[in-house]
Amino acid sequence: MTAEFEVSLESRVVRPDPVYLETSALGPWKQAYRRYLEDPDGFWAQYAGELEWVEPWDRVKDWEYPYARWFVNGKLNITINCLDRHAAGERRNKVALIWRGEEEGVERVLTYRQLHRQVMRFAGALRNLGVGRGDVVCIYMPLVPEQIVAILACARIGAVHSVVYGGFGADALNTRIRDAGAKVVVTADVGYRRATRIPLKTIVGEAVRNAPSIEKVIVLRRTVPHVALHPEMEIDFQECMAAAPSHVDPEVMDAEDPLFILYTSGTTGPPKGIVHTCGGYMVGTYYTAKYIFDLKENDVYWCTADPGWITGHSYIVYGPLAAGATVLITETVPDYPDPGIWWRVIEDFGVTVFYTAPTAVRMFMKYGDEWPARSVLDSLRVIGSVGEPLNPEAFEWYHRVIGQSRCPVLDTWWQTETGMHMLATLVGEPMKPGFVGRPIPGVSAEVVDREGNPVPPGTGGFLVLTEPWPAMMRTVYKNDERYRKYWTTVDTLYLAGDLAVKDEDGYIMVLGRADDIIIVAGHNLGTAEVESALVAHEAVAEAAVIGVPDPVKGQAVKAFVILKVGYAPSEKLKTDLIYHVRMSIGPIAMPSAVEFVLSLPKTRSGKIMRRVLKAQEMGVDPGDISTLEV
Ligand code: WT7
Repeated sequence: MTAEFEVSLESRVVRPDPVYLETSALGPWKQAYRRYLEDPDGFWAQYAGELEWVEPWDRVKDWEYPYARWFVNGKLNITINCLDRHAAGERRNKVALIWRGEEEGVERVLTYRQLHRQVMRFAGALRNLGVGRGDVVCIYMPLVPEQIVAILACARIGAVHSVVYGGFGADALNTRIRDAGAKVVVTADVGYRRATRIPLKTIVGEAVRNAPSIEKVIVLRRTVPHVALHPEMEIDFQECMAAAPSHVDPEVMDAEDPLFILYTSGTTGPPKGIVHTCGGYMVGTYYTAKYIFDLKENDVYWCTADPGWITGHSYIVYGPLAAGATVLITETVPDYPDPGIWWRVIEDFGVTVFYTAPTAVRMFMKYGDEWPARSVLDSLRVIGSVGEPLNPEAFEWYHRVIGQSRCPVLDTWWQTETGMHMLATLVGEPMKPGFVGRPIPGVSAEVVDREGNPVPPGTGGFLVLTEPWPAMMRTVYKNDERYRKYWTTVDTLYLAGDLAVKDEDGYIMVLGRADDIIIVAGHNLGTAEVESALVAHEAVAEAAVIGVPDPVKGQAVKAFVILKVGYAPSEKLKTDLIYHVRMSIGPIAMPSAVEFVLSLPKTRSGKIMRRVLKAQEMGVDPGDISTLEV
């Protein structure tokens, strides 16, 4: 890791239309932030108080470093706030979900009342299968309303969901099922992607072969005629819904009971099961959905992520639904049948708040201004970004072409572990291309050196969070040691793993990861998982992967491979290895290049020095190599 280096802070300031600040529910950053600093607990109590609790909390937080408890002894069920509250009141006929399939004209709309009823039914179906409080349910589904129904149904009965992105392969799914000890998998026969069918059920079949905790697989059957189901193991989604009661009371949860586990890549070892709890997560995602996106009653909100990632958990499902928003979801990819599809969706449904990733923005830039120009984007009010740094060129294009130089660009920095937005440029505040913005009101962040001392503006350092926040992860599933590491590596601060720099106004520029995580198209990949997939191939003795710059994806995976004796390098073998990674982890992990090597740079203790490989690749100085074994 390197820190403390000079970074040029020159940036243009883009001032949004003053109307955004005038109509903002949170008000100017400075005032809201001061309100937080003057009384942090009172600040959070105010937003928690806007939600329904079964029993009120005794204390806003207990902080026993590095463990926090929020809304201590508060009792709740998050679905009361996402569903019952709206379905019983004026929002009962408000549209909760708009789903657009891959094909033109394939659409479904669910009101809050309809969504509520479906969630209760599926909650009943899960209970009928013996799933209860604390049991883990793995959800491996395409982006259809039933995916969200399944997530909320788990929350309804206090089951812990572990959603695995539908783009992952069988090995990645198996690892996650086994680590969480999931009892049930909810899946579909197929997902659609570029008009081809992704055989999810077949992948599940392979993934559960070596996962003894699994008792049942629930299958949403989309294709006609229906695929056959294994009589002992598999059951039909609709049939088990039909057999379930229409009303299921919410399980009363303690604020600190787990809500879900979500796997994210680590720098070493298998992926980490990040654990989020009911109360703090509900308050954090509600507050940020409502006040950071500054959602208004008539907004049509579209976040292009998949619920399989934290962005989807927090900003498709829980946050926006707790705020009573109309949420658009779609199974379409950005460039199929052509790169105009997303802009047509915005026009067709009158999307007002749009949230996507820099990799998508850069891809659209490459296709040119003519695609968005074919659609009317006048409905847009706010355009957001998340996942990786939004470089100034991408900012300019996004603001000018999609935002028509009128919509604020809401960049948001956060992580699976943080559960909610941490840094952002609030809607209505001056924007600085290249800078994500300042800590949001409610959050304390700093850029520090190795010892944890704040570094002066213009000097690079580690991005840390200095105070606990409600939606913070509570532990790493079955591995609390890994949780503690976040808080014990740099003084007693939460180390995010990103390098950053601050300017005189407190705006933070995120420079990228400081560790062995590669962010490909906004997806977080640990070098360890990709390397172990490579090593599982019969021809591979050892492998190391690094991130190399990619103009669209931000980074791409490059693999260095040592072959076993008896295997010769060939183009065919390269293709084979790439395919192997694709099948075991998924398309996001596919190396863009494979290089056969005879040795890998290692420390004397045997650790691969990816930093050295990377420096060689980029033609730069590798820095301190005193520990390199020669
Ligand atoms: C890492 C977390 C949380 C949403 C999706 C990713 C990078 C995220 C930004 C941003 C610069 C960003 C960081 C972070 N990142 N948002 N706005 N600007 N970098 O969640 O998979 O847990 O990855 O994504 O490197 O540490 P994740």
